[in-house]
Amino acid sequence: MSARDETIAQRLLPWYDGHARDLPWRSLPGDDLPDPYAVWLSEVMLQQTTVAAVKPHFSRFIERWPSVHALAAAPDAEVMAAWAGLGYYSRARNLLKAAREVVRLGRFPDSEAELRKLPGLGVYTSAAVAAIAFGKRAVVVDANVERVLARFYAIADPLPGARKAIRCAADRATPDERAGDFAQAMMDLGATICTPRAPRCMLCPLSESCAGRLSGAPEAFSAKAGRRAVPERRGKAYWIERGGCVWLVRRPADGMLGGMRGLPDDGWSARADGSYAPPLSGSWTLLGEVRHVFSHARLVLEVLAWTGNAEPPEAGEWWPIARLDEAGLPTLFAKAARLARARRVPAR
Ligand code: ADE
Repeated sequence: MSARDETIAQRLLPWYDGHARDLPWRSLPGDDLPDPYAVWLSEVMLQQTTVAAVKPHFSRFIERWPSVHALAAAPDAEVMAAWAGLGYYSRARNLLKAAREVVRLGRFPDSEAELRKLPGLGVYTSAAVAAIAFGKRAVVVDANVERVLARFYAIADPLPGARKAIRCAADRATPDERAGDFAQAMMDLGATICTPRAPRCMLCPLSESCAGRLSGAPEAFSAKAGRRAVPERRGKAYWIERGGCVWLVRRPADGMLGGMRGLPDDGWSARADGSYAPPLSGSWTLLGEVRHVFSHARLVLEVLAWTGNAEPPEAGEWWPIARLDEAGLPTLFAKAARLARARRVPAR
């Protein structure tokens, strides 16, 4: 470890002692280690979702399922519905599988290697849980950490090419003690000071030794290589209303948004070729379209309202429209339902 590597922890930990964000899954510096279940749940939620979006979901989850035992015993459908709005629903399916595995093991695994064996725990999450919940030395690298280190060491290659060099830098900078606080300090620094645009170097505890700042253009580092254009897909969703209720289906467990409730649709998610299926037979009015971005595709979903006498197309349930918020619809279908409610001509 060079003097510059050491500087990072020496400057960052005292800064964290005074500036750590107070987040509901955290123990503040100096307090006992936090509950591993809370740390794991928060890290899974934070994998693809912002802190602001995670906070209310996290609090509701912990209130409803306060322990890994409670979560392991929960019905799948209830957990999937509680995940609605967070996206990337495979995370919720893996969460449940992992909770049941922890209960089967009789204890929460406490090493990075054992954590890695649980469903849904990759390199990042296992390291984060080992460090934050169990005080183990582990190298925790998320997008914030990547940006901070790429700037500090002026690593000029764009991501993802620079990832290996950044990981080595993170390993050198990670202290033996307080690795969990160190990881969270890096994340807080990246989220509040070393931000993607307009970093606030005047407030940064690392600025004196930061090669990116000294270069005069810290923002130039940690640039992402040009993003792949994601293909556009088209599909249809059907609003079928009767007596103040709408017909909802449960999506097959193993496809996109698997296991979630949704409006009936034309099978767009299974058509990887982007082909466009004809609408269900019957009498339909186009109400409009909603757009949604998934990680691998952009979807334009036409929303059609049933105006004839057709029977609902597949197994499902009549759900009271006034209580649609409680159906746990994923964001795509929540958007479609909002559009349908605003534009539909109510049934006579
Ligand atoms: N992002 C992912 N994990 C986090 C954590 N523990 N604190 C703040 N931001 C995070």
